Order: sequence, then structure tokens, then C-alpha cells
Amino acid sequence: MTLRLDGRVAVVTGAGAGLGRQHALLLARQGAKVVVNDLGGSTSGVGSDSAAADKVVAEIKVEGGTAVPNYESVSTQESAERIIKTAVDAFGKIDILINNAGILRDKSFGKSDLKDFAEVFQVHYWGTVFCTKAAWGPMSEQKYGRVVFTTSVAGTSGNFGQSNYGSAKAGMLGLMNCLAIEGRKNNVLVNAISPGALTRMTDNLGLDESFMKKLDPAFVSPAVAWLASERCDVTATIITAAAGGFGRLHFFETKGVQFDPSQPITVELFDRAFDRINDLSTADPTTPGTEGRMQERLDTLAKPAA
Ligand code: NAI
Repeated sequence: MTLRLDGRVAVVTGAGAGLGRQHALLLARQGAKVVVNDLGGSTSGVGSDSAAADKVVAEIKVEGGTAVPNYESVSTQESAERIIKTAVDAFGKIDILINNAGILRDKSFGKSDLKDFAEVFQVHYWGTVFCTKAAWGPMSEQKYGRVVFTTSVAGTSGNFGQSNYGSAKAGMLGLMNCLAIEGRKNNVLVNAISPGALTRMTDNLGLDESFMKKLDPAFVSPAVAWLASERCDVTATIITAAAGGFGRLHFFETKGVQFDPSQPITVELFDRAFDRINDLSTADPTTPGTEGRMQERLDTLAKPAA
């Protein structure tokens, strides 16, 4: 199971700048043939410019790698299909899809325009759906695929002013979880990164200079290249990556309580048990999901009281 990507074909969306550029450069250095997709608009998603993708293709070629540009938007089904078709036309197949393209329309929820909500969803959530859908059939048929989503702390923990972006970033995690189950039998693995990096998207956050130096987007890409490789054997896994630090982020359920379902289960009963239900110190990562918890709790009913 090699870490190298020789012979593999990758699409990186939004690869004309920031994180996507670094992912594309590293995948190419690892041996992959890369489609550098980028619409080339502003951070808020206005305009377009083919120079963004062209520049990164040129950089890859200077290093001796193989790449072609694509200037389409991820945000419609037809254009997303053309992005994946670019890989198939140029290199004969699609093995790796890095869904990275993104825009921002930050505003507090009360002041936000729901048109911005729709636009942000169109790029982050629907863009991820459309590109993944276009790659899904070929990957399933060839029984090999590595798909990486790009989520955000705004989706997993929340962030002021990012209700549209955070909900799109959290929505894609539901997609990841379901696709991971459907893809496993065909060796199509679907994972996510939650990055932190200094890019044009984050350069106005008022971070101090010495901290900014640590946030090189290149520090994130090794996680992406690993998730894109044969060596990757995990699916539905969220890797956090920032400033050279990496971790795994996951949802866990607390031990909770089990009432006897043959007795009335009342709001007062729930109220009295709330501190135990809410006690995160009982969250056990080894219990597999909510169904595992349900069975574990029901089993306690069968046991005689200690
Ligand atoms: P960036 O603005 O430098 O790069 C995003 C790229 O996506 C741009 O080159 C842009 O032209 C392209 N793009 C935008 N809309 C597109 C569309 N419809 N179709 C094709 N390309 C499009 O930003 P950055 O920071 O590199 O962001 C990359 C991803 O990482 C985004 O999904 C972002 O939400 C995510 N992210 C970034 C974090 C950070 O700390 N920089 C934190 C958490 C998530």
C-alpha cells in the first residue's frame, strides 16, 4: 500500500490559490497527474479569471509534474461534470477528488441576506455534492477512489458571523458519513480535513505576525496527500490540520440513562436525569454510534440492579 501517487489521476477544486494550490503541488510531487480547477473569482465569489489555474499548472510543470487546468465553477451539476470529464479526457480516469473550492459571505445571522446563504451553499455544499456525484460512478466501477471534503471549525464548533458557511461545512459531514458507508464496498473512501491556514480567506482576521508565520497552508497538504493515497484505509474520518498540528475530530455520545420503556417516561424524569445525560465525561469513543449506545442501554435493563 503505497504512499506514492504514481499513475493516479487527481482533481483538486479551487486549486488556483491558498490551500488548494498547495494540495495540487504536493499531489503532483507525489506522482499524481492533476487537474487544477479554479474559477478564479474573488473571496466572496465574484468574477472569474483563468490565470489562477494556469499559474499553478505552470508551477507543477516547472517541477517536472503533470497537470492540466480547468476553469469551471463547482457550483452547477453540468460544470462539475465537465471538471471530472477534464480528468478523464486528459488522463483516462479519476482516482482522487479533493473538494476544496470555497467562498465567504460572512455576516451575523440577523443581518444576513439569505441570497448569501444560497450562494455559499451552492459552492461549498452543492459544489461538493456535484463534483463527488460526477466522480462517484467511475470510482465505484474501477473499485478505487479517494475523496476528501474540506470542512471547517465554523461547521464543527460554530463561529460568529459564519452561519451560512458553517452550516454548509457541517452539511457536507452528513454527506461524508453516508457516502463512506455506500463507498466502502467499492474501495471508495470519503474523508474530510478541517484546516487552519493563512490564505486570502483568513488574512484579515487580525492574527499576530508570529502566529501567522506558523499558518503556512503547505503544512495542511500532507494530510490530504495521505488521505488521497492507497495507504489510507479510513473512511468518514475528519482530520484537523493547522500549523503543523494534526488530530482527529469525531462526535461521541454520552453514556446517558435508560428508563424502563414499560413505565411512563415523563419530562420530569428527563429533567432529573439531565446532568447524567449531559455528562460528556461519560462519552466513550469505542461505542459505535447511537445504535451501539441504544443497545448498551437496553442491555442494562436486563441486568438485575446492583
Ligand atoms: P482561497 O480563497 O485562498 O482559495 C479558494 C479557491 O477556491 C480560490 O482560488 C477560488 O478562486 C476558488 N473558488 C471559489 N469558488 C469557486 C468555484 N465556484 N469553483 C471553482 N473554484 C472556486 O481560500 P482557502 O483558505 O485556500 O480555502 C480553501 C478551502 O479551505 C475552502 O473550502 C475553505 O472554506 C476551507 N477552509 C479554509 C480555512 C483556512 O484557515 N484558510 C479554514 C477552514 C476551511
